[in-house]
Amino acid sequence: MSLKEFDLAGRTAIVTGAARGIGKGIALTLADAGADVVATDVLPEIEQTSEEIRQRGRRSLAIPTDVRQTEQVDAMVEATVAEFGKVDILVSNAGIDIKKPLILVDGGSPLRMRADARFDSPLLEEEWEAMLDINLKGYVRCAIAVGRHMIERKSGRIIAIGSVAGLRAGDIGTIYAASKAGVHQFSCALSREWSPFNITVNCIAPGAIGPTESWYVPSWNISREEHEESFRRVVRSVPLKRFGSTRELGMLTVFLASEAGAYISGQVIAHDGGFSA
Ligand SMILES: NC(=O)c1ccc[n+]([C@@H]2O[C@H](COP(=O)([O-])OP(=O)(O)OC[C@H]3O[C@@H](n4cnc5c(N)ncnc54)[C@H](O)[C@@H]3O)[C@@H](O)[C@H]2O)c1
Repeated sequence: MSLKEFDLAGRTAIVTGAARGIGKGIALTLADAGADVVATDVLPEIEQTSEEIRQRGRRSLAIPTDVRQTEQVDAMVEATVAEFGKVDILVSNAGIDIKKPLILVDGGSPLRMRADARFDSPLLEEEWEAMLDINLKGYVRCAIAVGRHMIERKSGRIIAIGSVAGLRAGDIGTIYAASKAGVHQFSCALSREWSPFNITVNCIAPGAIGPTESWYVPSWNISREEHEESFRRVVRSVPLKRFGSTRELGMLTVFLASEAGAYISGQVIAHDGGFSA
C-alpha cells in the first residue's frame, strides 16, 4: 500500500461482539488492513471469525467473553497481552437492542412503528437493565481493562460503536437511545481524561447497517417476511436510499485506528447515509 498511514500491520486489535454482524465485519476489515485481531463475544461463532482472520494471513484469538462480567473482560485483555504483547486498538461493539415500549397502550406501542408488532409485555426492568449493562457498562469495563495497558505504553485507539439513536431519537427505543447517548458522551469525556497518554477515543454512530440479525426483533412476534417489508420502509427514510454495509463501517474503523486518524479524538461520527443530517 502506498498510503502507509492506513496500514495496521503489527497492530493488535480487540473487537467485542465479533461473532456476527457489524463486529465481524469490522474484525475482518481490520485484518485486511494488516491488524492481528482478537474476536470476543458470548456466541461460539467467534471461532469462525478468527478462522477467517487467519485465512487472511493475520494472527487471531477467539476469546469467549461476556462484557457484563468484569473478571471475564479483564481476563480477555490479559490473555491478549500475554499472546501479542500489547493492545493497540479496542473496538467496543457488543450491544443489544430490545425494541419495546416502556408502557403498552391498548396492548401495543403508543407510536406507529415500522411494523405491526405484537408485544407480550412492555420493556421489563431486567431488559432495560441488560441494555444499559451491555451497551454502556460493558464498554466502560472494556475501556478500563485496555486503558491500563494503553496508559502504560502511552499509546492507544478506542473506537466505540454508538448509534444514530443516541444522536436523534427514533419512535421506539427509549433506553437503547439513552444507552447509546451514554456511549457517545462517555467517549468524549474519556478522550479528555486519557489524551495525556496519546490515547484517542472516538465513536461511530451507525444508522441502518445491514440488515444484520439485530434488525429481526423477536419481541415483535412477526414473521421474517413482515420484518423484510419493514426494512423497505427504513430504507426509504435514508437519504442515500440504501442500507450501509459492515465493510463500509469497517473501513471507517480502520481510518480511526490508523495513523491517518491520529489527530481525531473525542468525536462522534455518524455513518448513516445522511439520515441524521
Ligand atoms: N445494525 C445496525 O443497523 C446498527 C445501527 C446502530 C447501531 N448498531 C450497533 O452496532 C453494534 C452491532 O450491532 P449488529 O447489528 O451487528 O448486532 P448483532 O446482534 O448482529 O451483533 C451484536 C453482537 O454482540 C454480541 N453480544 C451481545 N451481548 C453480549 C455480551 N453480553 N457480551 C459480549 N457480546 C455480546 C452478540 O452476541 C452479537 O454477536 C451494536 O452495538 C448495535 O447497537 C447497529
